[in-house]
Amino acid sequence: MKNLCIGFIGAGNMASSLINGLLSQGMEPGLILASDIDSSKTEHLRRENGIRIASNQELVNAADIIVLAVKPQVLGELCQEIDLCSPSQLVVSVAAGIPLARLESWLGSDTAIVRCMPNTPALIGKGMSGLIANANTSESQKALASDLMAAVGITVWVETEQAIDAVTAVSGSGPAYYFLFIEAMQEAAEAMGLPADTARILCMQTAIGACELANSSGDSVSELRRKVTSPGGTTEQAILQFESGGLRELVRKALRAACDRSKQLAQS
Ligand SMILES: NC(=O)c1ccc[n+]([C@@H]2O[C@H](COP(=O)([O-])OP(=O)(O)OC[C@H]3O[C@@H](n4cnc5c(N)ncnc54)[C@H](OP(=O)(O)O)[C@@H]3O)[C@@H](O)[C@H]2O)c1
Repeated sequence: MKNLCIGFIGAGNMASSLINGLLSQGMEPGLILASDIDSSKTEHLRRENGIRIASNQELVNAADIIVLAVKPQVLGELCQEIDLCSPSQLVVSVAAGIPLARLESWLGSDTAIVRCMPNTPALIGKGMSGLIANANTSESQKALASDLMAAVGITVWVETEQAIDAVTAVSGSGPAYYFLFIEAMQEAAEAMGLPADTARILCMQTAIGACELANSSGDSVSELRRKVTSPGGTTEQAILQFESGGLRELVRKALRAACDRSKQLAQS
């Protein structure tokens, strides 16, 4: 992305995280532009990070990569109000639920567009993003989009928009599933008499430790689970309850429901 100008339309949570990620990787602040209808947000970014601020159209006139980082419900109006100025410009949309075909209908069918589905841990640089490109996007533009989203975490490319619905159900909504599980464990810990702050730290550190161990270990998660589940031991009793209570089927149904909803929203 060396020497390319990146413009963010919408200077909210996702844009701020991406800008911070890019700056921490050494990107020149003068090559980053931001626009927002709320000028206090762009002004804050300018003061904190030294990036440049612009109107939406000024940004589009100057940027090589235009990141659409507004809420999905205002994206249509925004796209229709801006005029791209060169066929070499790349548009990256992080808006949830807006398919490539709709973006093309708003921005022009010859526009290079990458659609991303990030998740909220991007706010702390631990995001997981699924990406899909339209047919106008070159391999080098895809590499630029990967580099951009890698500023806030890990990226994977998928080939179809159906796969983006699955990504939405798994990693997009996924943080909430883990929060729910931690919440349920905290409630159970408190019900066994532990003080709330003790329950919180036990559950939180266990989640962090388990995920980091699973991520760094050569063993599969099933193998790691087997290793802590001694026959006749305490873990086995809990696992038996989860399995006989239908946890796996419940997870399958939950993710299916999220995926179906993502499809419905994309069509509406
Ligand atoms: N936050 C996440 O972790 C996350 C995860 C996955 C996907 N996303 C996607 O990322 C996008 C941005 O989310 P966010 O959480 O960063 O939203 P956000 O904090 O609300 O930021 C969006 C910003 O865009 C501004 N805006 C609205 N209309 C505009 C226009 N026409 N021109 C310029 N700026 C305009 C908004 O101003 P007002 O507030 O005054 O309207 C707001 O400051 C969304 O499409 C969302 O689906 C976010």
